[in-house]
Amino acid sequence: MDWGMKNRMSRIFNPQDGRTVMLAVDHGYFLGPVSRLEDLRKTIEPLIPYADSLMITRGGLRNCIDAKYAIPIVLRASGGNSIMGKELSNEEITVSVEEALRLNVCAVALSIYIGAEYEHQTLISLTNLINEAEKFGVPVLAVTAVGKELEKRDARYLSLSCRIAAELGARIVKTYYCEDFEKVVKSCPVPIVIAGGPKLKDERDVLEIAYNAISCGAKGVDMGRNIWQSHWPIAVISAIRKIVHENAALDEALDLFSRLKDKS
Ligand code: 5RP
Repeated sequence: MDWGMKNRMSRIFNPQDGRTVMLAVDHGYFLGPVSRLEDLRKTIEPLIPYADSLMITRGGLRNCIDAKYAIPIVLRASGGNSIMGKELSNEEITVSVEEALRLNVCAVALSIYIGAEYEHQTLISLTNLINEAEKFGVPVLAVTAVGKELEKRDARYLSLSCRIAAELGARIVKTYYCEDFEKVVKSCPVPIVIAGGPKLKDERDVLEIAYNAISCGAKGVDMGRNIWQSHWPIAVISAIRKIVHENAALDEALDLFSRLKDKS
């Protein structure tokens, strides 16, 4: 690995433990002003000290994040779809690597949709982005997106999606936690981070999937809604950090969450 690539990867994954707590706030690229992200700056700023990196769009970054922050940026580089459109998988590359470098990002991210109508298009976009980004030492993170078909999220489907992303050259894969998750991790040769998906019933469920994913070998989380749609976002992300970076047991993380929640 070249120095630039290594340096960017080590800004995302803490070199002490090889793990990361990424905060995903890129949802507006197809969901618009999703609940609690109406005012991006207001939601994100208090969470910046607790996140190892921020996954965000170019517009979100330019307009809502001050350049004074040293937080590493993972730039959403695909889009062209919307929740109102016919087919969510109809995404293409939306940001050039030149622009990503101008924004001084640590990685670029793109969604692939295995088994969906535009599977081929998203996989070719992934390879095009990788071919370009690799020239400049920029890692590509592939998101194994499922669109509206959340029921697709099982070990068989996610193993297939993650492995294809890694085989095509993604340096990081973001996927969902599922039963038998160790199978997904074992068959993917690059680090896996998990998304949280739509808001879960309560914070215990969020900490449980984070704990289970880490126990199965995930290298971290890249979560959004289950952090910033919580009434206690700082308590949730702090408890997730304890699991990811301190190998905390689920009970310890829950205990921290309750204490911070009571204080806020
Ligand atoms: C959208 C994304 C989001 O960043 C991702 O889904 C993570 O957020 P959440 O934890 O809210 O699912 O990639 O396609």
